[in-house]
Amino acid sequence: MRVAIYPGSFDPITHGHVDIIRRGLTIFDKVVVAVAVNLRKTPLFSDAERVELLRETFAAEPRVEIDVFQGLLVEYARRRGVPTVLRGLRAVSDFEYEFQMASMNRRLSQDVDYLFMMTSEDQYYVSSTLIREVAANGGSVAGLVPPGVEARLYERFGRPPPA
Ligand SMILES: Nc1ncnc2c1ncn2[C@@H]1O[C@H](COP(=O)(O)OP(=O)(O)O)[C@@H](O)[C@H]1O
Ligand SMILES: [Mg+2]
Repeated sequence: MRVAIYPGSFDPITHGHVDIIRRGLTIFDKVVVAVAVNLRKTPLFSDAERVELLRETFAAEPRVEIDVFQGLLVEYARRRGVPTVLRGLRAVSDFEYEFQMASMNRRLSQDVDYLFMMTSEDQYYVSSTLIREVAANGGSVAGLVPPGVEARLYERFGRPPPA
């Protein structure tokens, strides 16, 4: 069975993430979506909420598992016995960061390799940061995030969903 770990913050999950996971499922039998607990970042949604939104989104997909991890990704991958990490690439700006992370992780462990998938052309500008920013200011994020996420965003910012 071919398994990949797809790690990230997912604060919150967007259709950009969904796209990478769906396409990952055409290559892997199973994708483990691993929510990173970052003690230095204060997320908009708690670890439990981010997990819940992911579970909701993939409720009908038994080949997607949602998990949480803390600490080094390579340690988590080793613990899970999964040799492949899946990541998405948007613009040039992602490349530099991803290249740096993958190189450092390579140094930390030779047992894990990285697979990068290019964003789809209708998702290349979608980021969780931008989604939070638009929703916080009452703009529409319809079609860019799963419907459940959209509702939770406006609820969190105390705004009615835009008409
Ligand atoms: N719109 C998108 N298209 C393709 N990949 C994306 C998109 N948005 C995020 N990703 C990728 O998904 C992964 C997780 O992203 P994110 O939740 O921001 O976590 P991190 O904090 O690790 O960057 C990263 O590899 C990121 O490049
Ligand atoms: Mg990111």
